[in-house]
Amino acid sequence: MEMKKAGAKKILVVHGPNLNLLGMREPDIYGRETLQEINDDLSQIAEGAEVTIDFFQSNSEAALIDRIQLTITDGTDFIIINPAACTHTSVAMRDALAATRLPFIEIHLSNIFSRETFRHHSYFSDLAIGMISGLGSKGYQLALEYALTAYIKQAD
Ligand code: DQA
Repeated sequence: MEMKKAGAKKILVVHGPNLNLLGMREPDIYGRETLQEINDDLSQIAEGAEVTIDFFQSNSEAALIDRIQLTITDGTDFIIINPAACTHTSVAMRDALAATRLPFIEIHLSNIFSRETFRHHSYFSDLAIGMISGLGSKGYQLALEYALTAYIKQAD
């Protein structure tokens, strides 16, 4: 779902595999909020700031790469991404993000460094402006607020 505003700066929020299950998926780790609720909160912030926000979730790595590639031509200015399990596996998604040359923030609901060691490495973090991990859904909101103040408003 996309809310368009003429001439407005555009932010894309990308959610990786299994994040469609938020709310019911291991709530002790990921919280009880659904993906729709998280996106709705971000939409509200974006609306107040008069920027366009677009959301994309997929369980398919190929679909995620295709959507990231689309930002090269669709006018996206900034990406907020939770690559989910692809964080730890996907050179292909990393390469897609690098190809866009867009600034992005990496989000994790859980603190990936306090979990299994295979979650400690991210293929994205060194390319990202920054990473927020362990603050639950608040992490997305903080990333959006940062994008708005540090990138979007500055560029007006
Ligand atoms: C996650 C952490 C990943 O390790 C995991 O595979 C996810 C979600 C997080 O938001 O905490 O699916 O990215």
